[in-house]
Amino acid sequence: MIDTSKLKSELLLEISSTDAPRTVLRSDKLKDLYSQIPTLPPEQRGDFGRLVNQLKNELEQAVVEREAELSKVELEPIDVTAPMDVNSNRPEMIAATDGSQHPLSQEITKIADIFNRMGYLVEESREVDDQFHMFESLNFPKGHPARDDYDTFMTEEVDENGDRLIAPAHTSTMQNRILKKYRSNLDKGEAIAAIVPDRVFRNEDLDSRHEHTFYQIEGVYVAKNVTVGNLIATLKEFLQEYYQQDLDVRVNPFYFPFTEPSFEFALSCPFCKGQDDSCKVCSGEGWVELLGCGLIHLNVLKMADIDPSEYTGFAFGCGIDRLIMMKHQIEDIRHLESAKLDFLKQF
Ligand code: FA5
Repeated sequence: MIDTSKLKSELLLEISSTDAPRTVLRSDKLKDLYSQIPTLPPEQRGDFGRLVNQLKNELEQAVVEREAELSKVELEPIDVTAPMDVNSNRPEMIAATDGSQHPLSQEITKIADIFNRMGYLVEESREVDDQFHMFESLNFPKGHPARDDYDTFMTEEVDENGDRLIAPAHTSTMQNRILKKYRSNLDKGEAIAAIVPDRVFRNEDLDSRHEHTFYQIEGVYVAKNVTVGNLIATLKEFLQEYYQQDLDVRVNPFYFPFTEPSFEFALSCPFCKGQDDSCKVCSGEGWVELLGCGLIHLNVLKMADIDPSEYTGFAFGCGIDRLIMMKHQIEDIRHLESAKLDFLKQF
């Protein structure tokens, strides 16, 4: 039988002395051993084959160890008792010590202020919710195909019904809670009027208009004789106050299971004004979709114990990041959560 021990020592030495140890596994000397197997008498082939495989395994192990050794970073010893040499005149240090609010927080404050002045209370959403609030309370029964339109993140943890908890994909998860919390306003002859500006999560393909984590503002208004006219007037009033100018908005019919009728509002693209087919922000459409809205579906009102023959209402859900992009002409939504100081210092 051929003696492989001399070759083994040779190859191990090569591995331990090269910066590219994996190349040794492709050495011709090793290939020769494999090519000898079929030339041996049949009764020797099995044992020899096992020997060669064992050698290969040992060499692979040596390669892994050598690679780990090569990847070790030399750490300089640090004197942790020495004073830190921090130059506080660096621009990023000045920004840090000056402190400023993140543009998202600044704008949420402004948006909430406009709605406050219109008589809306502000509520918070949550970062983990149940499927009842994400779907059932919004008129998506179990198995409803529109559930799949919301690319949700689910947890492994389940609620008391055995349904997985969910990272809310929209602030509409708060509609049922708002309707129930302020239900008694209606008996006193007052409207239910609340907004929820908060964070939502979607398992999205990301691009200049789509983030996986972004902000929405939900609005809910219920009283007697509320119409689509009230809805459109409220949204136009809000948008014109926010942008401080007359705007081109496009209202198209749409579908949401929790509003009927439903609409989508788009704002004319401030970047290309519809003049550039290759515009990354509006994809050359000339419009950027800002919000979904509609009259609250009868089933959603009923689920909050509100009689739809007596009361009607509207709801809307608007992308806050998109509002801000349009206001400050930010060409890519991903800047907002990038934590880049160069970007943040502009606000
Ligand atoms: C909704 O989320 C509905 N809940 C809106 C609604 C509320 C309708 C109440 C009726 C009544 P939609 O998936 O279209 O709808 O999202 C609403 C807005 O959120 C969009 O118009 C857009 O401005 C913003 N948005 C949606 N997906 C993203 C994303 N991935 N990144 C940034 N903004 C987004």
